[in-house]
Amino acid sequence: MNSRLRIFVVGSGGREHALVWKLAQSPRAERIFCAPGNAGIAQQAECVPISSSDLVALADFAEQENIGLTVVGPELPLSQGIVDVFRERGLRIFGPDRAAAVLESSKVWCKQTLSKYDIPTGYFATFGNVEDALSYLQTQEPPVVVKADGLAAGKGVTVSRTLEDAQEAVRSSMIEGVFGSAGRRVVIEEYLEGDEVSVMALSDGENLFLLPPSQDHKPVFDGDQGPNTGGMGCYSPVPLLSDDLAEQAMEQIMRPAVRAMAQEGRPYVGCLYGGLILTDEGLKTLEFNCRFGDPESQVVLPRLGGDLVDLLDAALDRNLPDAETSPDKGAAVCVVMASGGYPGEYDTGKLIHGLDEVSKREDVVVFHAATKATDEGVVTSGGRVLGVTGLGDSLPDAIDTAYRAADQISFDGAHWRRDIGRRAAGRNEVA
Ligand code: GLY
Repeated sequence: MNSRLRIFVVGSGGREHALVWKLAQSPRAERIFCAPGNAGIAQQAECVPISSSDLVALADFAEQENIGLTVVGPELPLSQGIVDVFRERGLRIFGPDRAAAVLESSKVWCKQTLSKYDIPTGYFATFGNVEDALSYLQTQEPPVVVKADGLAAGKGVTVSRTLEDAQEAVRSSMIEGVFGSAGRRVVIEEYLEGDEVSVMALSDGENLFLLPPSQDHKPVFDGDQGPNTGGMGCYSPVPLLSDDLAEQAMEQIMRPAVRAMAQEGRPYVGCLYGGLILTDEGLKTLEFNCRFGDPESQVVLPRLGGDLVDLLDAALDRNLPDAETSPDKGAAVCVVMASGGYPGEYDTGKLIHGLDEVSKREDVVVFHAATKATDEGVVTSGGRVLGVTGLGDSLPDAIDTAYRAADQISFDGAHWRRDIGRRAAGRNEVA
């Protein structure tokens, strides 16, 4: 067996809880720390109160604690260059460096690179001048997509069904500055019709290790109604992504992207997350993210057969097995329980009931996304509060398990979608 390691996870959401949970199963995990973590993560890791954007303090901590492997959850520290800061100090950290994280931190750069390397994506144009953007819109047939160039906390993409709405999206991004500097440039692109799928793979800069594909549900209400959120739930496997299509995703999109990054002098080491869409013309790329997906990690990691410490370590040694994941386990469905009002205004500090009861079940993992421990018990501390993941031999089993568990948990104002995974499982009825 390889050496045992002290491991450090950066972030505080459901994705980071899933990472900690999976890493803790490795016999190589000597001790796990998480900054800043949350009440659920604190049950499996030692949480340290350092912000995930305080790169120097995080590196200081990793040095002091003799951390052998750091794993970064959110995109912000990656785009700020956390990997560069750690590497300069000789610290091992899994994730793309700042130059490679541009794949997510600039939608303009991403689309131009996709186009340069003939990686399938919708047609588009990029603008740094508002008048040019508005003139271009006059030539387009709605619906049309307007994307802020930079990181906008998942809110930078607008799908407009009319010319007026699209013009408004351009003005609010480029003139009113609703996304700050992230919205000074925009991508205007074709609206693609089809089913979306999240394909994540670990990359060592050359080889790719495919993780189980999954599908997210972004709109807040059942039937994909209402505004988009960070993700209200997801499931894996994805029946619509046949083995042939998964291979197509790897050969036509994921591998060419990693080769393109190398050719651009920005070798990509980290988790590459392709937001893909299955159109009538085949799979196309909607976007790339430079990190593990959230909530996708909450179904992908429970299904992953291999040892995550070994895999991340191999990626850092540029020695990743270039293959599909070792046999994945059954099916997983994650139902996100959110605060009343989310994705709009919401209250926090609501006491959560039922966690102890559900934690006794072996077929359920409750990942905490925004919780805090208080003297009264665990309370809510954000919009997406819990990811209740049900495991089963099949999607219908996992759906039933997840919903039975979610029904056992309560907090004031809690809401969640009732249809996660049901279309894929061929059953739309409410349990
Ligand atoms: N589930 C969407 C994301 O991780 O960006």
